[in-house]
Amino acid sequence: MRVDVVTIFPEFFGPLDVSLLGKARERGLVDLRVHDLRERTDDVHRSVDDAPFGGGPGMVMKPEPWYAALQAVVDGGGPAPRPRVVVPTPSGRLLTQALVEELAAEPWLAIACGRYEGIDRRVVDAWADDEVSLGDYVLAGGEVAALVLVEAVTRLLPGVVGNAESVADDSHTTGLLEGPVYTRPASYDGRDVPAVLLSGDHGAIARWRRDEALRRTATLRPDLLMRARLDARDLAALAGLDLPFPLPPPAVAD
Ligand code: ADE
Repeated sequence: MRVDVVTIFPEFFGPLDVSLLGKARERGLVDLRVHDLRERTDDVHRSVDDAPFGGGPGMVMKPEPWYAALQAVVDGGGPAPRPRVVVPTPSGRLLTQALVEELAAEPWLAIACGRYEGIDRRVVDAWADDEVSLGDYVLAGGEVAALVLVEAVTRLLPGVVGNAESVADDSHTTGLLEGPVYTRPASYDGRDVPAVLLSGDHGAIARWRRDEALRRTATLRPDLLMRARLDARDLAALAGLDLPFPLPPPAVAD
């Protein structure tokens, strides 16, 4: 996969040389290129922002450097005629694992990191395929959101995470939050690992894990539970939890 990031802070993307993604880049699984928007300015101050038409606080990112930077990305060529262009913004649609999976299927992404009050709308209208928000809070700019996007997307690429099952079991991939995990020692700080995990009974372990995922999701994210695919056994396990809300009908047959 090819990913181009356009930003006024290329230094933000140093962490992409470390960890799983750093290895994936080294191994050629991800071709990540970071571009400095200021290189596409043509004034001595290298200015990328200007006052908003109509007044109001803050500054707006000017269209000319953005058009030039995104055109340069396209003209540089890649694995498709043009990249899917994503703009992180608190006014975008919420980033979910489903959208991450969709983006991971693309051969080429470009992420346009806005700052200040945002990017001139004409840039977004002309170039963006998606406007994506990390959540209902406001960051100082799109760079941290771009880091999140790149990490979430690239870890789904074949070969990036060593153990494909660990990706398949993730919170959100299954529609439920993942339950707790433990490693040695079996007893620590007066706290014991649940006995079932030491039992060697794989069926019982799978059921326990499912029940813990259901319990955690019901407690922390009932909104997810309402959309999850639950069978009659799941509903029976949830019925035992005495939840303060009614359960949905089973979504799948046993
Ligand atoms: N830029 C500023 N806040 C953001 C958010 N919540 N999500 C994505 N990009 C942002």
